[in-house]
Amino acid sequence: MVEATDDTRAEDLVFDPPAEFAANAVAKGSLYADAAQDRLGFWADQARSLLHWHRPFTQTLDWSEAPFAKWFADGKLNVAYNCLDRHVLAGNGDRVALLWEGEPGDSRRLTYAELTAEVKRAANLLTALGIRQGDRVAIYLPMIPEAIIAMLAVARIGAVHSVVFGGFSAESLRARIDDAEAKLVITADGGYRRGRVSPLKPAVDAALESGDSTVEHVLVVQRAWPDDEELAWTDGRDLWWHEEIAQVDWEHEAQGFDAENPLYILYTSGTTGKPKGILHTSGGYLTHVAYTHRNVFDLHPETDVYWSTADVGWVTGHSYVVYGPLANGATEVIYEGTPDTPRPGRWWEIVQKYGVTILYAAPTAIRSFMKAGREIPQQSDLSSLRLLGSVGEPINPEAWLWYREVIGGNRTPIVDTWWQTETGGIMISPLPGVTAAKPGSAQVPLPGITVEVVDDKGRPLGNDESGLLAIPEPWPGMLRGIWGDPQRFIDTYWSKFPARPTGPVYFAGDGARRDHDGDIWLLGRVDDVMNVSGHRLSTAEIESCLVSHPWVAEAAVVGAHDETTGQAVVAFVIAKARHADEANAEGATNELRAHVASSIGAIARPRELFIVNELPKTRSGKIMRRLLRDAAEGRPLGDTTTLTDATVMQAIADRLKN
Ligand code: PRX
Repeated sequence: MVEATDDTRAEDLVFDPPAEFAANAVAKGSLYADAAQDRLGFWADQARSLLHWHRPFTQTLDWSEAPFAKWFADGKLNVAYNCLDRHVLAGNGDRVALLWEGEPGDSRRLTYAELTAEVKRAANLLTALGIRQGDRVAIYLPMIPEAIIAMLAVARIGAVHSVVFGGFSAESLRARIDDAEAKLVITADGGYRRGRVSPLKPAVDAALESGDSTVEHVLVVQRAWPDDEELAWTDGRDLWWHEEIAQVDWEHEAQGFDAENPLYILYTSGTTGKPKGILHTSGGYLTHVAYTHRNVFDLHPETDVYWSTADVGWVTGHSYVVYGPLANGATEVIYEGTPDTPRPGRWWEIVQKYGVTILYAAPTAIRSFMKAGREIPQQSDLSSLRLLGSVGEPINPEAWLWYREVIGGNRTPIVDTWWQTETGGIMISPLPGVTAAKPGSAQVPLPGITVEVVDDKGRPLGNDESGLLAIPEPWPGMLRGIWGDPQRFIDTYWSKFPARPTGPVYFAGDGARRDHDGDIWLLGRVDDVMNVSGHRLSTAEIESCLVSHPWVAEAAVVGAHDETTGQAVVAFVIAKARHADEANAEGATNELRAHVASSIGAIARPRELFIVNELPKTRSGKIMRRLLRDAAEGRPLGDTTTLTDATVMQAIADRLKN
């Protein structure tokens, strides 16, 4: 281990891959040369070797209608068949697919043969409920096997799922149901969170309460419900999963669908108040996630036990809990609950119990464990771990070094993976048996992926220069659009930089820098998107939610640095004159914070909320969020000369100091 002294720069610390790891690694350094020589040929080879095609493709990429890409367009495949049936047919039906652990300590183990059978039955049930190719199904479930079964069943019949994170409110769920015009909602009575039942079905009821919706049925998995409470039920609309599934056939033959058949919509926050429905399709996406899952995580499916701690409600849960691992025939752990329930070391007990070899987690979780102390993980035997991954936000070198030492026993390589809901799969990451790892840097684009750091005009920058992250060439897992809004797709992602002869250039929304070796360091978002615990939140969405409260005249929200969660939501609110008394009464800030939690979801609840008399604005009326961020982070105020009234900012800063 390299000792970090005060004057060592993080970028000078490097860890070579252990020799034994490198010798047995799935990904060799030659991948870079192979991909560079013929990028499209490289992807076509990956698509052919990693997947089963019902009808082989002859075209690799059609970029003629850029930015609307088509990959492997004349091929046909079935995504669920690729994740299930073919492993059984290859003689691996007895291999465990899912090692599920419920928060209360109950568990289930499903082999590939069993999971295939469950998904076939669920596919028949969906068909019986009238779901057809292209129909949208909303999934609002806890981390239980049925979440994965439901997603794969939807995929199997060529329909489109829209998974909504169980922590989102009824209102957020309804907005997503309406936007996608979902015909069916699959939910559970409740799930376990922090030792208690966390209800889900009542949120679905509340979501569907007002006005007509497109939902015909609500299919309810029986998971958790308090004994002494009644579960509301709408006859004709609500159906129990276990009752319905008992009535359908176990046999189901998977049909091939076009490679560009939509697979899912996943909503993510943007710079406006309305979340964007990111659309992913089948063949290119599955190629990208299978390839990255195998190479970045060095997957040896016969022996590894892989665990991604992500919830299926986020893109990591789609790409690296469901589609990547199962396409590769991996054995994986799925955990329902929170990391510290019922004991602070629950995660590490799970690693020991199942002999987890590959762990993929978010820096926020690592930093919370760091804060709680190394004694906690040290109570469990973590010697099975051989590779660690990080995702969702920049991992600071200190957390990286702790992760490697305390969790990885100074043995394991760490892969810091940069990607987005929009990219579908990992784009920048070390290869664990090849790249000498640098704490805090995601480092290099994967073979087959082109990434640049550019200036405002889209001109590539050199080493030791900071700019914007751009992707100049299409990739198989890329988003195919924003559901129902092609113009927003073009405007948001493809219009920031001038197009090149090869086509438009993708704008990621992240700042980045290359160090003196050319390694890439991510510098956070450059737009009004916050990253709280690795989850994306929009300042505009929270502002419009605050303004919907009767007391609020105006609101400004910023993401301020937070030691554990990366960023935290800090809100500044101006009360309406006629509600000034209520807004200044005790408990008012908590009421407004709770309003955000109940209308968007608990993750959006501001850490702090200040009632102020005015907001700092430029002469053209734009709120200067940068200044609010300075104040929220306790920094001296920057240049305030462009403000209409420079005293406003001083008043706010003084408030915060108290
Ligand atoms: O800002 C980057 C950050 O998370 C954003 C994408 O968020 P989301 O679509 O929710 O996907 C999260 C899981 C892939 C990016 O624009 N981000 C993600 N991974 C990293 C990261 N920032 C720094 N380092 C990373 N490894």
